[in-house]
Amino acid sequence: MTDNNLRDDWWKQAVVYQVYPRSFKDSDGDGLGDIAGVTEKIPYLKALGVDAIWLSPFYPSALADGGYDIIDYRNVDPRLGTMKDFDDMEKAAHRSGIKIVVDIVPNHTSNEHVWFKQALADGRGSAARERYIFKEGSGPNGEFPPNDWGSLFGGPAWERVDDGQWYLHIFAKEQPDLNWNNPEVHEEFKKTLRFWADHGADGFRVDVAHGLAKKLDGASMKDLSRWTVHDSLCHDGTHPLWDRAQVHDIYREWRQVFNEYTPHRFAVGEAWVVPEHQYLYASPDELGQVFNFEFAKANWDSSAMRTAITEGLKAAERSGSTPTWVMSNHDVPRHASRYGLPQVPSQAHHQLAKDWLLRDGTSYYEDRDLGTKRARAAIMMEAALPGSVYVYQGEELGLFEVANIPWDRLEDPTPFKTRYNFTDKGRDGCRVPLPWDNADMPRAATWDASFGAGASFGFSPKTKADGTVSAEAHLPQPLWFKDFAVNAEDDDSGSMLNLYRRCLELRAQMLTPTQLSTIDWLDLGSQVIAYARKASDDSGFQQIVSVTNFGNEPVELPKGKVLLSSQTLPQDGTIPQDVTVWIAR
Ligand code: GLC
Repeated sequence: MTDNNLRDDWWKQAVVYQVYPRSFKDSDGDGLGDIAGVTEKIPYLKALGVDAIWLSPFYPSALADGGYDIIDYRNVDPRLGTMKDFDDMEKAAHRSGIKIVVDIVPNHTSNEHVWFKQALADGRGSAARERYIFKEGSGPNGEFPPNDWGSLFGGPAWERVDDGQWYLHIFAKEQPDLNWNNPEVHEEFKKTLRFWADHGADGFRVDVAHGLAKKLDGASMKDLSRWTVHDSLCHDGTHPLWDRAQVHDIYREWRQVFNEYTPHRFAVGEAWVVPEHQYLYASPDELGQVFNFEFAKANWDSSAMRTAITEGLKAAERSGSTPTWVMSNHDVPRHASRYGLPQVPSQAHHQLAKDWLLRDGTSYYEDRDLGTKRARAAIMMEAALPGSVYVYQGEELGLFEVANIPWDRLEDPTPFKTRYNFTDKGRDGCRVPLPWDNADMPRAATWDASFGAGASFGFSPKTKADGTVSAEAHLPQPLWFKDFAVNAEDDDSGSMLNLYRRCLELRAQMLTPTQLSTIDWLDLGSQVIAYARKASDDSGFQQIVSVTNFGNEPVELPKGKVLLSSQTLPQDGTIPQDVTVWIAR
């Protein structure tokens, strides 16, 4: 395959739009987004310029963790539609040239999954229990958990069942961990991969990809307490839960399945491991691609961003893949807000955002103009890089985190586990249903004047099929969403939406798709991130240069034709602070 022929490797240079299905578009008026809602908005996604849609879980789920607790891996949640709706959506997307990526959650099932129910019914020592990780408790009568591990969502990582055994759940107790030492588990997931590939899925996103190959036999549970569930960055393969060498056997097995299809399917792994190990997951005989979360972790700082880019490129080159770039997803506060909060060193920044959420967005000043300005510069800095850009629904509208959702309206499990001490408000602030149309304007809610009630900015239709009024959106939408509704941004040439459209359009036209993970860095000072890429053959140019100025000193505009800038440029030939410019030459 030549360098600029990426036919089957489309995913190496894709713009992938993440849909969080329950909050994207509701087609039937129950207040929950659904699959038919995605189909309805394919023209919108096409006009935005995305190559693929990744759907977060839409499978039957008890919603203990936003759908990441799956009851049936090969079906659609009846609240979100039917398999026919999925097939219709898949066809509509493919007709528009948009690929489909589905989420695979192999670390745990829902506790309502038939396997888990059977494990409870069949009891100690049964084959059904062997699919999960059941252990005897500690203490004279096994009345204490096998060890002191705490789950990632708060509270203990072990739950006791009626007959006295305990099972491991590194997330919520409704998410029992699977035992990947059991061949049945392997077979089951291969079946699931084939099922969705047969239904037209072009790729998979693999949840908690670094956690499957656990080693809990041999040592006593107590001994294993020298590790915790929280340290997934253990780098030497000794951790009993995370990033063990054996996990790669699983993905090599999956690769055989991916390669049964033409074109070969790909997967992108969610692996929160040390950067030096990420490339392993992305190698061509495993998943193909891995998320690089360095942008999602970095604050607005040239040196943190430069490191994020350098590390991302390096890891991709090492794996023989291309890099991925992610600023936001359904697990982190929206970046337009992060960039508008006080900027402290990156490691501390997430803590700051967390504290800010805990105080309902009052403990630090969120400078929204600044956050927006930086988010505009950021997407341009990101979109000219080689590799794949993952865009999280609503970031193209410039949405901010909804920081003041009342505690009793939250859905995410973490706040429930920790609400007694108010230590974590969870991830709902970035999962609020999208505003599509501000003609469908809610009124101030009786319980809080800053939220809407009675309508949903076009997220749901006004009425259901039977003529009754639609339910309210499942998470409350703030009234300030009115300025971010798609119809409002459509009409505004300076909106975030129109910037994303133009930026993705130029990316497709002007840049040569490449298998390589290299850029030519330009040195315009420590406060500037500037790089060049080869322009596409029919663009009429040699190079596309992207320059982002982080510093307060204006930077001289490099020679060439300005293709796009994130703000209107001054007449004096300079690039002001927090602005990105693309230049063709
Ligand atoms: C991943 C998902 C997150 C989920 C967790 C457990 O990190 O992105 O949303 O809560 O896995 O499945």
